[in-house]
Amino acid sequence: MEECNYGIYKKTKQRLFDFLNENGHLFGGYELKILRSIIEHYDFPMLYFVEAVRNILEKLKLIPDEYNIYIKFLNLVEEIHGIEGKNIVEVGGGMFPGLAERIKLKQKNGKIVVFDPRLYKEYDSDKFTLCKKKIHRNSYIGKADLIIGLMPCEGAEALLDLAIEHDIDFVLWLCEGGPHGEGYDFYESEEEWLSHIIDKAKMGVSKKNMGELKKILIPDFDGKYPVIYNKRQKD
Ligand SMILES: C[S@@+](CC[C@H](N)C(=O)[O-])C[C@H]1O[C@@H](n2cnc3c(N)ncnc32)[C@H](O)[C@@H]1O
Repeated sequence: MEECNYGIYKKTKQRLFDFLNENGHLFGGYELKILRSIIEHYDFPMLYFVEAVRNILEKLKLIPDEYNIYIKFLNLVEEIHGIEGKNIVEVGGGMFPGLAERIKLKQKNGKIVVFDPRLYKEYDSDKFTLCKKKIHRNSYIGKADLIIGLMPCEGAEALLDLAIEHDIDFVLWLCEGGPHGEGYDFYESEEEWLSHIIDKAKMGVSKKNMGELKKILIPDFDGKYPVIYNKRQKD
């Protein structure tokens, strides 16, 4: 840890521990134990990227912009497909929907619906809906213009199924999480799962004339897992 930041990092860890102490009911006992151990043992800036912790840090607005994956992904989505006036479905928003909150702040028109069984609550308003459940290929998603997912683990598969079935633009930042679920046994390795997802996206985009599948790596944020999206000719 750089010495000049030590004080900030110490305070940030304390805020995290306080949050867990005050909101323990939102987590399982084992989960709390793991989270406490991660917070105790990880250094910064690494801790800004650990999924379960960054989700809490984002809720507490404690991630500096340069390490904030939610800001990075939102900027990418804006550059790639735009968000203004769009009805957006987010797959796997996490426990606290930080990305959706940021979209809601930026959008003048449009609506965002977040699906995740881990969401801390259900919520519905004119601009914002939290669906505390898994999305699947047959889920009703209404009149969506854009489907996005920031490392939604195995939700990536459903995201692509829905985007391709309904001819909806998508942006998906993949992660290692896919093969960690029920489907793990089907895949020998993380690489095998990732190439399955990318091939599926490529075939779907081409079959439905949704343009071309693009794949980019984001070196500042690990760079290991690609962001994939469709790019139509007119874009
Ligand atoms: C690695 S976390 C990422 C969370 C959040 N996007 C973030 O970056 O902080 C993956 C999330 O995807 C959710 N998820 C997995 N499959 C899903 C599905 N089929 N529908 C909705 N959410 C799903 C999990 O519950 C988990 O919260």
